[in-house]
Amino acid sequence: MSLRGFNPYYRWVFPWLLDRVSKVVATERDQLLSQAKGVVLEVGAGTGTSFQCYQDDVTSVVALEPDVGVMHRARKVLSCLPDAQRDKVELVIADAMDIPLADNSVDTVVCFLVLCSVPKPDRALEEISRVLKPGGQLLFFEHVLSDTEAVQRWQHRLNPFWHRCAGGCQLNRQTEAIIAQAGFDLQVVRRYQHASFPVLVRQLVTGIGVRR
Ligand SMILES: C[S@@+](CC[C@H](N)C(=O)[O-])C[C@H]1O[C@@H](n2cnc3c(N)ncnc32)[C@H](O)[C@@H]1O
Repeated sequence: MSLRGFNPYYRWVFPWLLDRVSKVVATERDQLLSQAKGVVLEVGAGTGTSFQCYQDDVTSVVALEPDVGVMHRARKVLSCLPDAQRDKVELVIADAMDIPLADNSVDTVVCFLVLCSVPKPDRALEEISRVLKPGGQLLFFEHVLSDTEAVQRWQHRLNPFWHRCAGGCQLNRQTEAIIAQAGFDLQVVRRYQHASFPVLVRQLVTGIGVRR
């Protein structure tokens, strides 16, 4: 459990910022999450923006989030949803590097702008792989190291400052490669730059990783 929730910045400002970012990528979120099915684990669920995106193919959602301040907001979001959607979702305070679920118990894992912030993404992916059933899918949407060299240089330079005020978020991760190295077959991967995002986090990668 993270104690950042007792810091006013992380209690009020950071969740507000997350909500703003979420609105910009609402279409991408809807499209990606429409592919979720069965038992879903959403890692780093944040303020709960994804909850309303899960469709009838989803039987239940474990929404895992280590930050108590952010989780507080997610609880409010959940309470406003219609019964059928609300009853599917269980909020769990936990870390992606130590997921409190059984081996092979999940059909779909969702990582939406999360692997940038997890201190050891390779460890989190090991855990994700453990809880996913063979053939289960990891749906991901992440900002990553830019394809543009000039931007890369600024990402490397500013990363030490950025991650201190952005909840541990790293600007220069090569998340696609980390996912592949963790034993996922990457499918329908798309790299693109999102014009509405600040240049340092504009390079996005989204797709599906299938657990071998
Ligand atoms: C940029 S926010 C994205 C939140 C949400 N997925 C969304 O799309 O709005 C990153 C989230 O990852 C969470 N996070 C950070 N470190 C984590 C960890 N070790 N395990 C799980 N979640 C983590 C943060 O608390 C935060 O809610």
